[in-house]
Amino acid sequence: MSNTVVKVENLVKKYKELTAVDQLNLEIKEGEVFGLLGPNGCGKTTTISCILSLLAFDEGKIEVFGKEMTPVSYDLKSMIGIVPQNMAVFDELNVYENVDCFCGMYIADQATRKQYVDEALDFVGLNDFRKFRPKKLSGGLARRLNIACGIAHKPKLIIFDEPTVAVDPQSRNKILEGIVDLNKQGATVIYTSHYMEEVEQICSRIVIMDHGKKIAEGTSDELKRTIKNTETIFIEMDEPAASLTEKMKTLANVSDVSWKEGKLVIACTGGRHNLIDIMEILQAEKVQFGRVWSELPTLNDVFLTITGKELRD
Ligand SMILES: Nc1ncnc2c1ncn2[C@@H]1O[C@H](COP(=O)(O)OP(=O)(O)OP(=O)(O)O)[C@@H](O)[C@H]1O
Ligand SMILES: [Mg+2]
Repeated sequence: MSNTVVKVENLVKKYKELTAVDQLNLEIKEGEVFGLLGPNGCGKTTTISCILSLLAFDEGKIEVFGKEMTPVSYDLKSMIGIVPQNMAVFDELNVYENVDCFCGMYIADQATRKQYVDEALDFVGLNDFRKFRPKKLSGGLARRLNIACGIAHKPKLIIFDEPTVAVDPQSRNKILEGIVDLNKQGATVIYTSHYMEEVEQICSRIVIMDHGKKIAEGTSDELKRTIKNTETIFIEMDEPAASLTEKMKTLANVSDVSWKEGKLVIACTGGRHNLIDIMEILQAEKVQFGRVWSELPTLNDVFLTITGKELRD
């Protein structure tokens, strides 16, 4: 049994009449890259702020490293790194001074502090920009500075709140790789995002939130197994005769067949030879077709099944 790093019990946070977090329970274990996935406004940042005791909440209990978290739990806070959703750096300090300033809040020894700042700058690839003021950095580089400030003191728990929003693909990949590296080096990670692909890519366990509530929890594979659709097969072709779609619908694992935008779309539930069975029908019916491919379900399909709406707007 691995240790619990964060435990959130029955958390309720209201902003006046709006319930932003509604009876939320979370348990994050040591070594995880834990994903908090949900659409804009579902309560991710509010949850993070409550975990960090930056916000007072209405009900519930929060423990970090087995101790109750309070606004003055400095011993706990020194073990946590936070990379906030909005840039939180000092505009009047340069890149090096910013990271040094954040690191200095927790690391007293000068030599260690210098070493940690250098390592953090190295890690995010900002060595060539040490003397730059934050305002002179591109969006992606500024995000990396935000990360360096959060991780320089080598925290055991690192919380990333949507670190890739409005970031170009190159910086995005670098950020995601960096998070995986930090985890390999021993940090437990909480990662919030409304990008399902990112969460799928790096998170070992995922909680999906909507309207302040937990609506699903599990590994990416576990979550996908909860839905009926296991595979969607696409075949480029002209609009088929009704007899063809009817024949396909008789296959044991086919749950739906439709024709959309020049493609036959076949939803399958289970089965291993769906594509072969379908190709046999096409051959028997002498149907002309173009490209054929199969797609696995995504976390968006999971979200769609549970809530009836798309994860991304
Ligand atoms: N300070 C505040 N005062 C009033 N309402 C707030 C405040 N902060 C957030 N909210 C509301 O609470 C809900 C949850 O917001 P929160 O920022 O936690 O969502 P989020 O999941 O982080 O969204 P995003 O993906 O856009 O960052 C939203 O409806 C938001 O409008
Ligand atoms: Mg947020």
